[in-house]
Amino acid sequence: MKFDSTEQWKSKVKRVIISQEEIRARLKDAGAYIDSIYDGSPILLVSILKGAFVFMADLCREVTVPCEIEFMAAKSYFEGTQSSGHVEITMDLKHDISDYHVIIVEDIIDTGRTLNEILKILRVREPRSLRVITLLDKPDRRVVELNADLSLFTIPDYFVIGYGLDYGEFYRNLPYIAEFEE
Ligand code: IMP
Ligand code: MG
Repeated sequence: MKFDSTEQWKSKVKRVIISQEEIRARLKDAGAYIDSIYDGSPILLVSILKGAFVFMADLCREVTVPCEIEFMAAKSYFEGTQSSGHVEITMDLKHDISDYHVIIVEDIIDTGRTLNEILKILRVREPRSLRVITLLDKPDRRVVELNADLSLFTIPDYFVIGYGLDYGEFYRNLPYIAEFEE
C-alpha cells in the first residue's frame, strides 16, 4: 500500500461508524464484565496481534481486579477475501495457562475461522476457563458457528478500519472505527 499524499490516504476513510465516545462507553461495560469474572484465581488477558493492540491497551485500564497480559500472534491464510481456517501461531504465550481464567481479546470476528483455530489450540492447554471478548462482530459473514462471550459492537458486512484495524497495514492509528472506501 502506497499513498501519493495525506489527502489520498484520508479519502479512503468513508465515514465514522463508531466514535471515540461510543467506544469509551462500551469499554466500561467490558471492564465491568472482566471484574465480575474474578474469583481469586489469576486472570490472563490474551490479545491477538496486531489488530487488537489498541483495544487491549484501553480495555485493560478499565479492569480493577488483578490481571496479567499476554500477546499471541497468528497468521491467517486467506483464500480470496476469506480466511481459510489455516492458522499459524507466529508468537506463542510465555505462560502455562492451566491455572488461569483466560480471556481472548480480539478485534473482530468475521468468518470466525481464525478465532476457532486459536480456541482449539488454547483449549488443549486446559485453562481454568476460556472466554472471548471482541470489539466488533460481523455475524453476517460467519462460516464457523462461534460467538463471543462479550461483543462490544455488532456491525453489518462493511470493511472497517481504525482503532487497531488495518487496510494494508494502514489506518490502525485512527482513534475511531470507520468504513473503508473500497
Ligand atoms: P476470520 O477468520 O474471518 O474471522 O478473520 C478475522 C480477521 O480478519 C480479523 O482478526 C482481522 O484481522 C481481519 N478482518 C476481518 N474483517 C475485517 C475488517 O472489516 N477490517 C479489518 N480487518 C478485518
Ligand atoms: Mg485479528
